[in-house]
Amino acid sequence: MDHIAITKAPSTRIHEVDWKNLGFGVYFSDHIFVADYRDGAWEDLRIIPYGPMSVEPSMCTIHYGQSIFEGLKAFRTKSGGVNIFRPYKNAKRLNYSAEMLCIPAFDETLLVAAIQQLVALDQEWIPRERGHSLYIRPVVFGTDNFLGVRASQGYRLIVMTSPVASYYAEGINPVRILVDTTHVRAVRGGLGSAKTAANYAASIHAGKTAKEAGFAQVLFLDGVSREIVEEVGTMNIMFLIDGELITPALSQGSILAGVTRDSALALVRSWGITVTERPLSIDEVVAAHTAGTLQEVFGTGTAAVISPVGELVYNGESMPIHGGTIGPLAQRLYDTITGIQFGELEDPYEWNVHVQLESGVVA
Ligand SMILES: Cc1ncc(COP(=O)(O)O)c(C=O)c1O
Repeated sequence: MDHIAITKAPSTRIHEVDWKNLGFGVYFSDHIFVADYRDGAWEDLRIIPYGPMSVEPSMCTIHYGQSIFEGLKAFRTKSGGVNIFRPYKNAKRLNYSAEMLCIPAFDETLLVAAIQQLVALDQEWIPRERGHSLYIRPVVFGTDNFLGVRASQGYRLIVMTSPVASYYAEGINPVRILVDTTHVRAVRGGLGSAKTAANYAASIHAGKTAKEAGFAQVLFLDGVSREIVEEVGTMNIMFLIDGELITPALSQGSILAGVTRDSALALVRSWGITVTERPLSIDEVVAAHTAGTLQEVFGTGTAAVISPVGELVYNGESMPIHGGTIGPLAQRLYDTITGIQFGELEDPYEWNVHVQLESGVVA
């Protein structure tokens, strides 16, 4: 493996953490992994203390958004080990996003090894409470200082980590979702399938408007016909209609290929339930609701794992789902995925990657 130079922080900031109120993305662990791309190669691989970074006002990414990122988690198991959930999937998706944004690829095995090393070094930052975890955020951005729209020649990759609370500190509360008929997030041929800053910038106005109206998030429709269901701001979406689990197909190229989506579909298929990935219109969802066959709706994503939808509002019409409570399939998925992540259930697909802790114990 390429050598990673380690400079340890002179002291830890861990005493600043309010473990009872972790929230999400508020605290950042002592160290980060950094690599720089210069003259056609990734070099200077290092783990250094987390801290301010100086950039020039002309740094291209601030102006033109040539940046990509990932989100995954590490979990502390009851036996004292540490699991990282499906990091190779995230590494692969990072390189997919990189290709979309003309950013050079980073070796996937090396990235996972660097993440393992970083998590091992900051292992005290992995929360001990069941449900809480260490969120891992790789990000890559252009570093050239210039004004003009072209691909940067230099890049920086950073991996930072952040202890986060379970999304559901007080039990799983189904969310209210607004079907957005005003804003679109992405279009076919655009960047929707990449995890890039632009997509999140495109969703901010919609999210803010929805929150002000009392909704947790919006469900985006496709950018052309405004009829086909796409995804929620930071989650993929699934519908249980008459015993069949239906989720938007990835083939349209405008939604993110979620790791939780993939995990949920694999599990549901293994339980003998029919899974269909296809374009699904909002009219079909409304018709299923009217016919009484819309059994469950839930989002899937790293942050919440499974987020049941208790109500969908489309064109001012409310569609309550499963009486505003979590349905059995969403509950089973949540219990199974978190059970695997926390090492309480068998991991039949070998999704967990273990972290070699400094003590020499293999988690
Ligand atoms: C736009 C979008 N869709 C879907 C997801 C779910 O993806 P994953 O399950 O890999 O977290 C996310 C979160 O990463 C997202 O930001």
